[in-house]
Amino acid sequence: MTDLVQNAAGDLAADSSRKDHPMWSSRLAFILAASGSAVGLGNIWKFPYITGENGGGAFVLVYLLCIALIGIPIMIAEVAIGRRGGRSPINSMRQLAQRDGLSKRWVWIGGMGMLASFLILSFYSVIGGWALSYVGNAAQGAFVGADSDTIGAMFGGLLADPIALLLWHSVFMLLVIIIVARGLSSGMEKAINILMPLLFVLLLVMVGYAMNTGNFAQGFSFLFQPDFSKLTTEGVLTALGHAFFTLSLGMGVMMAYGSYLPKKVSIVKTAVTVSVVDTAVALLAGLAIFPLVFANGLEAGAGPGLIFQTLPLAFGQMSGGVLFGSLFFALLVVAAVTSAISLLEPVVEWLEEQKGISRFGGTLIGGISIWALGILTILSLNQWSDVYPLGMFERFEGKTFFDLFDYVTANLMMPLGGLAIALFVGWFMSKQAGENELDLGNGAGYRLFMFVLRYITPAAVLVVFIYNLA
Ligand code: TRP
Repeated sequence: MTDLVQNAAGDLAADSSRKDHPMWSSRLAFILAASGSAVGLGNIWKFPYITGENGGGAFVLVYLLCIALIGIPIMIAEVAIGRRGGRSPINSMRQLAQRDGLSKRWVWIGGMGMLASFLILSFYSVIGGWALSYVGNAAQGAFVGADSDTIGAMFGGLLADPIALLLWHSVFMLLVIIIVARGLSSGMEKAINILMPLLFVLLLVMVGYAMNTGNFAQGFSFLFQPDFSKLTTEGVLTALGHAFFTLSLGMGVMMAYGSYLPKKVSIVKTAVTVSVVDTAVALLAGLAIFPLVFANGLEAGAGPGLIFQTLPLAFGQMSGGVLFGSLFFALLVVAAVTSAISLLEPVVEWLEEQKGISRFGGTLIGGISIWALGILTILSLNQWSDVYPLGMFERFEGKTFFDLFDYVTANLMMPLGGLAIALFVGWFMSKQAGENELDLGNGAGYRLFMFVLRYITPAAVLVVFIYNLA
């Protein structure tokens, strides 16, 4: 994938007609790349812990509604913009706005997306570092026979140790920098195409394990039996933000990927497939984790450490747990890296296009700045755990740097970017452009989609926003 992106970025400088704009070799190639971006820590780390914090079933239901009514339409719109523009997000927006005689301000969507990528990757890499350190723990047999106190202390120990966190964060960032600087070799791409399905299989194994040894009934009903008394307006905003985060939406990543999509491929079918895969992974992760949480008397609302405190218990007790555990966390790292690549790429592409910096230089500048910003997240977990930089505003009370980066990107920037994308395609882009890209013909299917994109999607985002501001 990154090869394609690199060539494209190189071409863009020299060739504005884009005759030799590279293309995905098939629909499947696009699905794999887009799923690689979508499936990541958001599914396996974040989804279970925010579900636990927000009381389960009702939150999951809202999240699923957000995926269906907001996420999928916006993914379709975002990919369509990218395919029509055929360039990096900022330049695609510029191009489309120009073509249809619209304001240049639409370009800001691309700019905000880049800033959000920058902020997200800074903490994403720290969490990726946790997963890396757990590969080591698992391989050394640290989970074998351990009880929940031991495992909890192991996690607590990691968070309390800024040097260890910095080390793992650096290793993770280094991996991402190397891959983005060199471009994904085709060998690596092939490896990922095997590793991602393997992660899926391993999750199924863990669900099987949870069925046999965990409190599956309680875990299942926690996830799927809505109790609306547990749902807060803040929870609804979190669900909305997570729908954007988990599908990599609202920031131009899907635009960039869409610009390599051949004309004959159906954007609608493809977006639905990617969303279904992404949702399936998240739900499987939930089904693997919550039965263990309840069987072991753990706290569902334990927060960001949830998977690091539950899954190791299972690995410590099952036969072959050392192997399965190491493999699981290694695959989690791979999933995180493929997502992280898609977060660094826009920044690098922009440095190349706009500032004329080489890919290598751009990757270094972008990567090192993000790495440095990550130190704020590391300190939020220990030395600065009671430093609340925007604590004077009620909304941001009790939020560390880490909490703020997460909150501002997922709950504010991405929904705003998504709203703008929906409005652009729904109301501003020419009708003919929409009909051309959306392969829904101009019959009922097209009208239904446009209705959702024009009214339902923006209204849903706005209602959640306004409720939260009020
Ligand atoms: N979707 C990824 C995850 O769930 C995170 C991610 C990667 C992302 N690229 C993105 C989020 C772009 C928003 C925008 O782990």
